[in-house]
Amino acid sequence: MKELLATVKDNREIAKDIWAITLTLPEPCGGIRGGQFANLSVGDSAFLLKRPLGICSAKGNDITFCYQLKGEGTHRIAAAERGDKLSVLLPLGNGFDLGEAKNIAVVGGGVGIFPLAAVIEEHAGDKNFFSYVGFRGKEYACLTERFKAGGALTIATDDGSMGFHGNAVQAFLNDYKNISPDLIISCGPPVMLRALKGALKERKISTKCLVSLEERMGCGIGACLVCVCKKTDGHNARVCKDGPVFDINEVEL
Ligand SMILES: Cc1cc2nc3c(=O)[nH]c(=O)nc-3n(C[C@H](O)[C@H](O)[C@H](O)COP(=O)(O)OP(=O)(O)OC[C@H]3O[C@@H](n4cnc5c(N)ncnc54)[C@H](O)[C@@H]3O)c2cc1C
Ligand code: FES
Repeated sequence: MKELLATVKDNREIAKDIWAITLTLPEPCGGIRGGQFANLSVGDSAFLLKRPLGICSAKGNDITFCYQLKGEGTHRIAAAERGDKLSVLLPLGNGFDLGEAKNIAVVGGGVGIFPLAAVIEEHAGDKNFFSYVGFRGKEYACLTERFKAGGALTIATDDGSMGFHGNAVQAFLNDYKNISPDLIISCGPPVMLRALKGALKERKISTKCLVSLEERMGCGIGACLVCVCKKTDGHNARVCKDGPVFDINEVEL
């Protein structure tokens, strides 16, 4: 993990309220695993806390994050222009370990799809991915080509304006028997992860399932305990350092 001063190469809106920023680092960003994240400065020392963003692509010296405009921090990142300097701490967290799995179901919703796209980029060609990605509506759809590059893609929208009318978990469950994955990986809002956990339990699906959690963060390196989550064994875990990826049965959702 390193703190680097990166140069903004590109920063643009790619779907409604979703932006992609590409930074050029002073050194190659090798050895990054999909699911790892970075803490990105918002370009002003008045904002001491950096914002955690999942790494969406890492190639050579260039690293891309996709982000949804939310509060002041993400709006400030959107104001960064080509040539501006931003400080970035990376890579953080554990990322998805796919092990020997070959047929992998990818279930993503909202901003959770961005780190999942990095997993597919990392393993393109050596794994079969069956992706189920959910958006609120078609105007929010993005990165669909990235998911298609990994194998089969089903798009789900809450309002039915594109693809399957419903959410990514429902689309995945409809298809589960046809694909019989040996691993499920997922990232999305807590309500989606809870629905996935409940459905796997109810249908007695014992396929290993890894989920990436999102918690409010401070330091991002395991020191401040802002990001603690509850584990099912009664212990606590730091999402930034012990995660953000956990076995779905290991954590309370
Ligand atoms: C491991 C991880 C990976 C993430 N990856 C992405 C991603 O790839 N794309 C994306 O759009 N968003 C991602 N998020 C969520 C993103 O960090 C928040 O949307 C962002 O910090 C909001 O900042 P803000 O100042 O615009 O909003 P505000 O609501 O004004 O933020 C105020 C404070 O709350 C924190 N905060 C607010 N929402 C969240 C949240 N959901 N998670 C963590 N901290 C939050 C902010 O960091 C800031 O310190 C990720 C979060 C985590 C923990
Ligand atoms: S954010 Fe500080 S311990 Fe996780």
